[in-house]
Amino acid sequence: MNEDDPINGLPIRQSIEDGVETFEATIEGETIRWDKGLTYSRHLQTDKLLGSQALISGKPDEMLFIIMHQTMELWIKLMMHEIREAMEALRADEIGKAGKTLDRVGTIMRHMIHSWEVLATLTPHDFLTFRGFLRKASGFQSHQYRELEFLLGLKRAELILVHDDNADAKTRLTDVLNASSLYDEVLQTLARAGHAIPDSHLKRNWAQPYESSEAVEQVWLSIYTDPGDHWDLYMLGEKVTALEYYFQEWRFKHMKTVSRVIGRKHGTGGSSGVNYLVKALDLSFFPELWAMRTNMTASREDGDYSECPNS
Ligand code: HEM
Repeated sequence: MNEDDPINGLPIRQSIEDGVETFEATIEGETIRWDKGLTYSRHLQTDKLLGSQALISGKPDEMLFIIMHQTMELWIKLMMHEIREAMEALRADEIGKAGKTLDRVGTIMRHMIHSWEVLATLTPHDFLTFRGFLRKASGFQSHQYRELEFLLGLKRAELILVHDDNADAKTRLTDVLNASSLYDEVLQTLARAGHAIPDSHLKRNWAQPYESSEAVEQVWLSIYTDPGDHWDLYMLGEKVTALEYYFQEWRFKHMKTVSRVIGRKHGTGGSSGVNYLVKALDLSFFPELWAMRTNMTASREDGDYSECPNS
């Protein structure tokens, strides 16, 4: 059956494909097809997504603020999904597969770091037009962000407190707190590969904050000293290190953007503001992977430094 599109008067060809009413039209020489089953907006729920930007101040710059937070929350959601995939691959000793997934997480982080540039166009005056409307709302209350920290390995149980009025968030955070983190799974993988990870770090209470171990540092040191003998684990170490490297860069850009927008004011969440964010730059997910670098020494196998041709 043929009908005309009421707006453009173009003929629309109709048919049934796989039991679904299907439509076809020719627009600017291209055949365009759609059906009554799945569409772009039904699949991606764009109506719900695009209907979720509710300005509380009515001030134009609040839109940027909302969309920046929402996009970051979406990327955090994707990162957690991918990290869980990587943990699953590690449990199956599929180190290459885990590495591919961790690379994707690193790429998302780099994208997020770059996106601070968009928020940096918000001047102090722009922000002050709507800051008062935010009252005590703050990114500090992002339960996904806290979940991501827990998932990577930074367990700080007391921070669940701010989610007391959100039962779902509290349950999620408590579950992730009580489960092994990405770093715990990496250490389990090292142990299964024959490395001497102490029991204190393999069978611990996952909810407790991770404590750096000299024995774990020694294991990383041995892997990094002879990369050729442990190539997969060496690459895994580098991919995991990259995640902390980018995460800290994200924290730094957040702190710098905040400093540019509010200076030394306190945060809406009640903290000391930039001072609080600066302190977070010292937090670490994978402490031994950083400490080990200090204790690495150069191999002398390529010659004696005293034989340098320019000396
Ligand atoms: C003009 C924009 C922004 C300002 C002025 C700002 C300011 C602040 C301040 C002052 C804090 C410390 C807690 C407090 O007292 O409120 C904070 C924490 C936080 N903000 Fe932002 N922020 C901004 C944008 C963003 C964006 C776009 C995100 C993305 C999700 C974000 C996520 C967070 C998170 C996760 C924390 C908690 C950090 C932690 O506990 O280590 N912020 N923010």
